[in-house]
Amino acid sequence: MSEIITAKNLTKSYGDRVAVDHIDLTVAAGEFYGFLGPNGAGKTTTIRMLTGIIEPDEGDVSVGGYPSNDKGSIASVIGVVPEGRGFYEWMTAVEYLEFFADLYGMNPDEKKKRIDSLLEKVGLDARRNSRVGTYSRGMKQRLALARALVHQPKILFLDEPTLGLDPQGQEDIQRLLKDLNKEGITVFLSSHLLNEVSNLCSRIVILHGGRIVANGTLEQLRAKTSLQSGSLTDIFLHLTRTL
Ligand SMILES: Nc1ncnc2c1ncn2[C@@H]1O[C@H](COP(=O)(O)OP(=O)(O)OP(=O)(O)O)[C@@H](O)[C@H]1O
Ligand SMILES: [Mg+2]
Repeated sequence: MSEIITAKNLTKSYGDRVAVDHIDLTVAAGEFYGFLGPNGAGKTTTIRMLTGIIEPDEGDVSVGGYPSNDKGSIASVIGVVPEGRGFYEWMTAVEYLEFFADLYGMNPDEKKKRIDSLLEKVGLDARRNSRVGTYSRGMKQRLALARALVHQPKILFLDEPTLGLDPQGQEDIQRLLKDLNKEGITVFLSSHLLNEVSNLCSRIVILHGGRIVANGTLEQLRAKTSLQSGSLTDIFLHLTRTL
C-alpha cells in the first residue's frame, strides 16, 4: 500500500514546553490509524500540524501526496472533525452543510445530491430542517462527520469524535467510520476509548510526552511489551506510566 500521510521530524513547542518532539509517522492509503496518548501527549497538536492549521517548528509533512505548503490541495483531499468544535447553532443541518459545500465551490445540483445522501448516511434526514442548537450531542457529532465529508475527501482526521457520547452515540459514529474505511477512506482517529480503537484500528500509535512510544498492530504491541494476552488498556498503561 502506498503512503498517504508522512511526517518526518515533526516538532512543535509552546514557549519552553515541547508539545511534539521530533516524531516520524507514516499512514498507508486505506489504513484505519489509531492515534493514542494521555492528556497533553501532543495528539491535537500533531493533528493540527498534519491538517495545516498550525505550522510546525521543524519537520516535513506530506498529505495525500502534497507538501505542507500546498494547503489548497491538502484541504481538497482531507476532511476534519476537530477537537472541541463549535457550531453555528442557529442554522439548520441543511443550511450548515450548504454553507460548507459553498466554501468548496460545489454546483447546486451536486450540492443537493451530496447533502441529501450525507444526511441519509448519518441518520439526520428526518431532522434536516431543525436548528443545530436543538440537536443532542450525538446528533451534533454525526453532523460534524457529515460536514467533514461534504467534499468527498480521501482522508478523514477525527480528534476524539465520540467524546461525551452515550454508548449508542459512540456505536453510531464507530459504525459510520467503519463503513467509510471500507469504502476506501483513510481514517486517522484520535481517541481515549481504547475499546473503540482496538475494535476499529488496523494500526495503533501511542504518543507520550510528545514522542511515539509504540507503533504497530495490537499483536505487535503485545509482543513488544511482553503483555501477550494484554488488552490495549494494559499496553497503554504500561507504556505511558508516569508514577
Ligand atoms: N495553544 C497552546 N498554547 C500553549 N500550550 C499548548 C497549546 N496547545 C497545546 N499546548 C500544550 O501542548 C501539549 C500537548 O497538547 P495537545 O492538546 O496536543 O495534547 P493532546 O494529546 O491532544 O491532549 P488531550 O488528550 O487532552 O486532548 C500540552 O502540554 C498542552 O498544554
Ligand atoms: Mg487533544
